[in-house]
Amino acid sequence: MKKLMAANWKMYKTRAEAEATAREMVRLIAPGLPEDRELLVFPPFTALAAVAGAFAGQKSFAVGGQNFWPHGEGAFTGEIAPGMLLDAGCTWALAGHSERRWVLGENDDLVGEKVAYGLQKGLSMVLCIGEKLEERRAKKVEEVLDRQLERGLVPAAREFANRLAVAYEPVWAIGTGEVAGREEIRQAHAHTRDRLVQMMGEKALEIPLLYGGSVKPDNASEILALDNVDGVLVGGASLTAESFSRIALA
Ligand code: PGA
Repeated sequence: MKKLMAANWKMYKTRAEAEATAREMVRLIAPGLPEDRELLVFPPFTALAAVAGAFAGQKSFAVGGQNFWPHGEGAFTGEIAPGMLLDAGCTWALAGHSERRWVLGENDDLVGEKVAYGLQKGLSMVLCIGEKLEERRAKKVEEVLDRQLERGLVPAAREFANRLAVAYEPVWAIGTGEVAGREEIRQAHAHTRDRLVQMMGEKALEIPLLYGGSVKPDNASEILALDNVDGVLVGGASLTAESFSRIALA
Protein backbone atom coordinates (compact mmCIF):
# COMPACT_ATOMS: atom_id res chain seq x y z
CA MET A 1 0.00 0.00 0.00
CA LYS A 2 1.25 3.50 -0.83
CA LYS A 3 2.02 5.81 2.08
CA LEU A 4 0.01 9.03 2.11
CA MET A 5 1.92 12.12 3.27
CA ALA A 6 -0.79 14.70 3.94
CA ALA A 7 -0.54 18.39 4.84
CA ASN A 8 -3.47 20.17 6.47
CA TRP A 9 -3.00 23.93 6.12
CA LYS A 10 -6.14 24.75 8.12
CA MET A 11 -6.96 28.49 7.98
CA TYR A 12 -3.49 29.61 6.91
CA LYS A 13 -2.07 31.15 3.73
CA THR A 14 -3.17 33.62 1.08
CA ARG A 15 -3.31 32.45 -2.54
CA ALA A 16 0.19 33.80 -3.24
CA GLU A 17 1.65 32.17 -0.12
CA ALA A 18 -0.04 28.87 -0.89
CA GLU A 19 1.15 28.82 -4.46
CA ALA A 20 4.73 29.66 -3.46
CA THR A 21 4.75 26.93 -0.78
CA ALA A 22 3.26 24.39 -3.19
CA ARG A 23 5.84 25.18 -5.88
CA GLU A 24 8.63 24.93 -3.33
CA MET A 25 7.25 21.55 -2.20
CA VAL A 26 7.40 20.26 -5.76
CA ARG A 27 10.99 21.49 -6.07
CA LEU A 28 12.13 19.97 -2.78
CA ILE A 29 10.08 16.77 -2.72
CA ALA A 30 9.31 15.56 -6.27
CA PRO A 31 12.87 14.52 -7.23
CA GLY A 32 13.32 12.32 -4.16
CA LEU A 33 9.81 11.08 -3.39
CA PRO A 34 9.89 7.27 -3.18
CA GLU A 35 7.58 5.42 -5.62
CA ASP A 36 5.45 4.14 -2.76
CA ARG A 37 4.54 7.59 -1.39
CA GLU A 38 1.91 10.12 -2.37
CA LEU A 39 1.73 13.73 -1.32
CA LEU A 40 -1.55 15.42 -0.50
CA VAL A 41 -2.20 19.04 0.54
CA PHE A 42 -5.41 20.44 2.03
CA PRO A 43 -5.23 24.24 1.49
CA PRO A 44 -8.00 26.69 2.42
CA PHE A 45 -10.73 26.93 -0.26
CA THR A 46 -9.47 30.21 -1.69
CA ALA A 47 -6.09 28.64 -2.49
CA LEU A 48 -7.28 25.30 -3.91
CA ALA A 49 -6.97 26.26 -7.56
CA ALA A 50 -3.56 27.87 -7.03
CA VAL A 51 -2.17 24.75 -5.35
CA ALA A 52 -3.76 22.47 -7.98
CA GLY A 53 -2.07 24.61 -10.64
CA ALA A 54 1.30 24.35 -8.91
CA PHE A 55 0.93 20.54 -8.74
CA ALA A 56 -0.21 20.13 -12.38
CA GLY A 57 1.70 17.35 -14.10
CA GLN A 58 3.02 15.88 -10.82
CA LYS A 59 1.46 12.44 -10.68
CA SER A 60 2.20 11.81 -6.99
CA PHE A 61 0.90 15.20 -5.78
CA ALA A 62 -2.77 15.71 -4.98
CA VAL A 63 -5.01 18.44 -3.57
CA GLY A 64 -7.93 18.07 -1.16
CA GLY A 65 -10.70 20.15 0.41
CA GLN A 66 -10.79 20.52 4.19
CA ASN A 67 -14.58 20.44 4.28
CA PHE A 68 -17.80 20.53 2.23
CA TRP A 69 -21.55 20.36 2.68
CA PRO A 70 -23.21 17.07 1.67
CA HIS A 71 -25.44 18.47 -1.09
CA GLY A 72 -25.02 19.05 -4.82
CA GLU A 73 -25.92 22.73 -4.78
CA GLY A 74 -28.49 24.90 -3.09
CA ALA A 75 -29.24 27.62 -0.58
CA PHE A 76 -26.47 26.83 1.92
CA THR A 77 -24.79 30.17 2.57
CA GLY A 78 -21.11 29.84 3.35
CA GLU A 79 -20.86 26.22 2.27
CA ILE A 80 -19.23 24.48 -0.68
CA ALA A 81 -20.26 21.35 -2.61
CA PRO A 82 -18.10 18.33 -3.52
CA GLY A 83 -18.55 19.13 -7.22
CA MET A 84 -17.01 22.56 -6.60
CA LEU A 85 -14.01 20.94 -4.92
CA LEU A 86 -13.57 18.61 -7.91
CA ASP A 87 -13.90 21.63 -10.22
CA ALA A 88 -11.11 23.41 -8.28
CA GLY A 89 -8.77 20.47 -8.86
CA CYS A 90 -9.36 18.40 -5.71
CA THR A 91 -9.38 14.63 -5.68
CA TRP A 92 -9.60 14.28 -1.87
CA ALA A 93 -11.50 15.77 1.07
CA LEU A 94 -11.36 15.55 4.86
CA ALA A 95 -14.27 14.75 7.17
CA GLY A 96 -14.44 14.55 10.94
CA HIS A 97 -11.34 16.57 11.76
CA SER A 98 -11.34 17.26 15.49
CA GLU A 99 -11.46 21.01 14.95
CA ARG A 100 -14.71 20.58 13.01
CA ARG A 101 -16.08 18.19 15.63
CA TRP A 102 -15.07 20.14 18.73
CA VAL A 103 -14.76 23.76 17.58
CA LEU A 104 -17.42 23.88 14.84
CA GLY A 105 -19.83 21.43 16.46
CA GLU A 106 -20.11 18.61 13.89
CA ASN A 107 -21.51 15.35 15.23
CA ASP A 108 -20.85 11.74 14.22
CA ASP A 109 -23.91 11.55 11.96
CA LEU A 110 -23.03 14.65 9.96
CA VAL A 111 -19.49 13.31 9.56
CA GLY A 112 -20.94 10.00 8.30
CA GLU A 113 -23.18 11.83 5.85
CA LYS A 114 -20.22 13.79 4.50
CA VAL A 115 -18.01 10.72 4.06
CA ALA A 116 -20.71 8.81 2.16
CA TYR A 117 -21.73 11.79 0.03
CA GLY A 118 -18.15 12.77 -0.85
CA LEU A 119 -17.35 9.21 -1.91
CA GLN A 120 -20.52 8.99 -4.00
CA LYS A 121 -19.58 12.22 -5.75
CA GLY A 122 -16.16 10.87 -6.71
CA LEU A 123 -13.86 12.29 -4.06
CA SER A 124 -11.45 10.15 -2.05
CA MET A 125 -12.12 10.74 1.64
CA VAL A 126 -10.01 10.88 4.79
CA LEU A 127 -12.17 10.16 7.84
CA CYS A 128 -10.52 11.57 10.98
CA ILE A 129 -11.12 9.89 14.32
CA GLY A 130 -9.57 10.26 17.76
CA GLU A 131 -10.26 10.52 21.45
CA LYS A 132 -10.10 13.52 23.77
CA LEU A 133 -7.78 13.52 26.77
CA GLU A 134 -10.56 12.86 29.28
CA GLU A 135 -11.73 9.91 27.18
CA ARG A 136 -8.22 8.43 27.21
CA ARG A 137 -7.98 8.96 30.97
CA ALA A 138 -11.35 7.20 31.38
CA LYS A 139 -10.02 4.26 29.29
CA LYS A 140 -12.57 4.87 26.58
CA VAL A 141 -10.24 5.08 23.58
CA GLU A 142 -11.54 1.94 21.84
CA GLU A 143 -15.15 2.82 22.57
CA VAL A 144 -14.69 6.27 21.01
CA LEU A 145 -12.87 4.93 17.94
CA ASP A 146 -15.53 2.24 17.44
CA ARG A 147 -18.33 4.79 17.60
CA GLN A 148 -16.60 7.23 15.24
CA LEU A 149 -15.85 4.43 12.75
CA GLU A 150 -19.36 2.95 12.86
CA ARG A 151 -21.15 6.29 12.47
CA GLY A 152 -18.49 7.79 10.17
CA LEU A 153 -18.65 4.87 7.74
CA VAL A 154 -22.31 4.18 7.07
CA PRO A 155 -23.02 1.14 4.85
CA ALA A 156 -23.22 3.29 1.69
CA ALA A 157 -19.63 4.46 2.34
CA ARG A 158 -18.25 0.96 2.83
CA GLU A 159 -18.64 0.18 -0.87
CA PHE A 160 -15.89 2.69 -1.65
CA ALA A 161 -13.06 1.21 0.42
CA ASN A 162 -10.62 1.84 -2.44
CA ARG A 163 -11.10 5.62 -2.07
CA LEU A 164 -11.03 5.77 1.70
CA ALA A 165 -8.35 6.57 4.27
CA VAL A 166 -8.72 6.87 8.05
CA ALA A 167 -6.61 9.25 10.14
CA TYR A 168 -6.14 8.54 13.83
CA GLU A 169 -5.59 11.91 15.49
CA PRO A 170 -5.81 11.93 19.28
CA VAL A 171 -7.33 15.34 20.07
CA TRP A 172 -4.82 15.99 22.89
CA ALA A 173 -1.92 15.64 20.42
CA ILE A 174 -3.16 18.11 17.79
CA GLY A 175 -1.30 21.40 17.75
CA THR A 176 -0.03 20.80 21.28
CA GLY A 177 3.49 19.56 20.55
CA GLU A 178 2.53 16.43 22.46
CA VAL A 179 2.93 13.35 20.24
CA ALA A 180 1.19 10.10 21.11
CA GLY A 181 3.70 7.49 22.24
CA ARG A 182 4.68 4.60 19.97
CA GLU A 183 2.63 2.13 21.99
CA GLU A 184 -0.44 4.40 22.00
CA ILE A 185 -0.24 4.81 18.23
CA ARG A 186 0.42 1.11 17.67
CA GLN A 187 -2.58 0.08 19.79
CA ALA A 188 -4.99 2.60 18.28
CA HIS A 189 -3.97 1.70 14.73
CA ALA A 190 -4.18 -2.06 15.35
CA HIS A 191 -7.60 -1.61 16.90
CA THR A 192 -8.77 0.57 14.00
CA ARG A 193 -7.53 -1.97 11.46
CA ASP A 194 -9.31 -4.85 13.27
CA ARG A 195 -12.51 -2.90 13.55
CA LEU A 196 -12.47 -1.93 9.86
CA VAL A 197 -11.93 -5.57 8.89
CA GLN A 198 -14.92 -6.56 11.04
CA MET A 199 -17.00 -3.87 9.35
CA MET A 200 -15.88 -4.30 5.75
CA GLY A 201 -13.95 -7.55 5.44
CA GLU A 202 -10.67 -8.10 3.59
CA LYS A 203 -10.87 -4.88 1.58
CA ALA A 204 -10.22 -2.97 4.82
CA LEU A 205 -6.64 -4.26 4.71
CA GLU A 206 -6.03 -1.82 1.83
CA ILE A 207 -7.32 1.30 3.62
CA PRO A 208 -4.41 3.59 4.53
CA LEU A 209 -4.34 4.47 8.24
CA LEU A 210 -2.67 7.82 8.87
CA TYR A 211 -1.41 9.16 12.17
CA GLY A 212 -1.85 12.84 12.97
CA GLY A 213 -0.97 14.97 15.97
CA SER A 214 2.27 16.97 16.29
CA VAL A 215 4.11 15.07 13.57
CA LYS A 216 7.43 16.87 12.99
CA PRO A 217 10.54 16.28 10.85
CA ASP A 218 12.32 14.67 13.79
CA ASN A 219 9.63 12.14 14.73
CA ALA A 220 8.14 11.29 11.31
CA SER A 221 10.35 8.36 10.37
CA GLU A 222 9.83 6.65 13.74
CA ILE A 223 6.04 7.03 13.42
CA LEU A 224 6.00 5.88 9.78
CA ALA A 225 7.89 2.73 10.74
CA LEU A 226 5.13 1.52 13.08
CA ASP A 227 2.85 -1.35 12.05
CA ASN A 228 -0.42 -0.21 10.47
CA VAL A 229 0.82 3.36 9.99
CA ASP A 230 0.39 4.07 6.28
CA GLY A 231 1.02 7.79 6.31
CA VAL A 232 0.73 10.99 8.33
CA LEU A 233 -1.59 14.00 8.49
CA VAL A 234 0.44 17.06 9.43
CA GLY A 235 -0.76 20.50 10.53
CA GLY A 236 1.78 22.96 11.93
CA ALA A 237 4.87 21.29 10.47
CA SER A 238 3.36 21.25 6.97
CA LEU A 239 3.18 25.02 6.63
CA THR A 240 6.67 25.46 5.25
CA ALA A 241 7.94 23.46 2.30
CA GLU A 242 11.26 22.95 4.04
CA SER A 243 9.71 21.33 7.12
CA PHE A 244 7.14 19.27 5.21
CA SER A 245 9.76 18.06 2.73
CA ARG A 246 11.75 16.55 5.59
CA ILE A 247 8.59 14.71 6.72
CA ALA A 248 7.58 13.60 3.20
CA LEU A 249 11.06 12.24 2.56
CA ALA A 250 11.64 10.88 6.10
P1 PGA B 1 -0.69 19.27 14.08
O1 PGA B 1 -2.14 19.11 13.41
O2 PGA B 1 0.28 18.50 13.20
O3 PGA B 1 -0.43 20.75 14.08
O4 PGA B 1 -0.76 18.69 15.45
C1 PGA B 1 -2.57 17.88 12.88
C2 PGA B 1 -3.97 18.01 12.31
O5 PGA B 1 -4.75 18.82 12.83
O6 PGA B 1 -4.33 17.32 11.35
